[in-house]
Amino acid sequence: MFVINFKNYEEIAGENATRLTKIATEVAKKYEITIAVCPPQHLLSEISKISSNVFAQHLDNSKIGSTTGFVIPEIVKKSNAKGSLINHSEHRIPPKEIEDLVNRLRNLGMISIVCVQDVKEAQMYAKLNPNYIAIEPPELIGSGKAVSKEKPEIITESVQAVKEANNSTQLLCGAGIVSGEDVSQALKLGAKGILVASGIVKSTDWQKSIEEFAVEFTKK
Ligand code: G3P
Repeated sequence: MFVINFKNYEEIAGENATRLTKIATEVAKKYEITIAVCPPQHLLSEISKISSNVFAQHLDNSKIGSTTGFVIPEIVKKSNAKGSLINHSEHRIPPKEIEDLVNRLRNLGMISIVCVQDVKEAQMYAKLNPNYIAIEPPELIGSGKAVSKEKPEIITESVQAVKEANNSTQLLCGAGIVSGEDVSQALKLGAKGILVASGIVKSTDWQKSIEEFAVEFTKK
């Protein structure tokens, strides 16, 4: 699983979100891998028309009905989003909400990616049996310094934490990934995929960067 979080970077504003998704979708097809995209919330429907692997960047645990401005699982599902990031470092939520959202997504047949900042959180949230735990040390996010190189032990320990939960949760590795080598290293350390933002979105050649990352998945 190769997940690209578009965040609110200017580079993906307007038509560019569609352009990036089209490139990601073509590369995924070429290398026969899954590349998921997380566009800004208001583009979920539009982007879902060109990709079947669209995730929300965040969800609120609010009820269906009179909850103005909140973004909730049942409604994004109807926009064909396949799942969501939960508890991203830039949009943290309380533990009870994480638990409720993981369960809510599971009941809806949607995929949950719970973001965590350290091994302790990986351990704690893997017990909820989300589809994925994404380990992202906050200080490395957007730094261009990959966690797989800077703090490889965090990946191996998180892999272990997820294993100990003894369920089907898998580990994604995020933060600072900017090269194929970073991807390769993360996969070698036991991650089942990556969560990346600036390394793709801010690159000057989207096609080239996505291909550079994608090819590493075919080597496994
Ligand atoms: O959601 C992915 C993210 O937080 C990692 O960001 O820019 O370090 O790839 P980046």
